[in-house]
Amino acid sequence: MNDTYRTLLARRTVRAFQPDKIPEAIMESLILAAKYSPTAMGLQDRHFTVVNNSGVMDHILAAAVKNGASFLPGHTPFYHAPTVVVVSAPEKSKYNRENVACAIENLLLAANALGLGSCYICSVLPGLQDPSIREELKIPANYVPYGCVSLGYSAAEAAEPKPRRTNDVTLIP
Ligand SMILES: Cc1cc2nc3c(=O)[nH]c(=O)nc-3n(C[C@H](O)[C@H](O)[C@H](O)COP(=O)(O)O)c2cc1C
Repeated sequence: MNDTYRTLLARRTVRAFQPDKIPEAIMESLILAAKYSPTAMGLQDRHFTVVNNSGVMDHILAAAVKNGASFLPGHTPFYHAPTVVVVSAPEKSKYNRENVACAIENLLLAANALGLGSCYICSVLPGLQDPSIREELKIPANYVPYGCVSLGYSAAEAAEPKPRRTNDVTLIP
């Protein structure tokens, strides 16, 4: 099987991370892969914020709770990952969320290809979108975070994938 295709089938969400930092060169490769994701009209109008600071992650969490997010007791939404990449796009762009999702999928797949675990996280969006956090993260003016990814070396095997649905394809001959 082709390596790229194998990665597509092998990627799984990881929710337990080792504390080890991601080497800079690997981080650069991940961001480069994300920059090669498609964007509507090729505008590349999305921004990556690499957060390596657990204190800042705590601020995001506190802001999420302040803005109405609720988490089960003991739940750690970033799963103690050493790095979180926040992806933002212009508030007024028609395809902002789509562009961010494409970039995040590239991050997830590149992480798997380079031996890292990853988790797409939206539960903290109420925190990421808080004005104080946008300022702390230096999100560009008029950009809004629409997703983030926890990244790091996996501390546990990912769960087995659920069987794929079989009723979700329609063929129009
Ligand atoms: C848009 C989106 C938002 C998600 N948000 C979260 C999240 O906030 N927390 C989390 O643990 N997982 C989150 N996930 C991960 C999904 O739960 C996960 O992809 C799904 O359970 C399937 O598992 P797999 O990625 O291993 O195939 C999100 C995934 C997507 C696509």
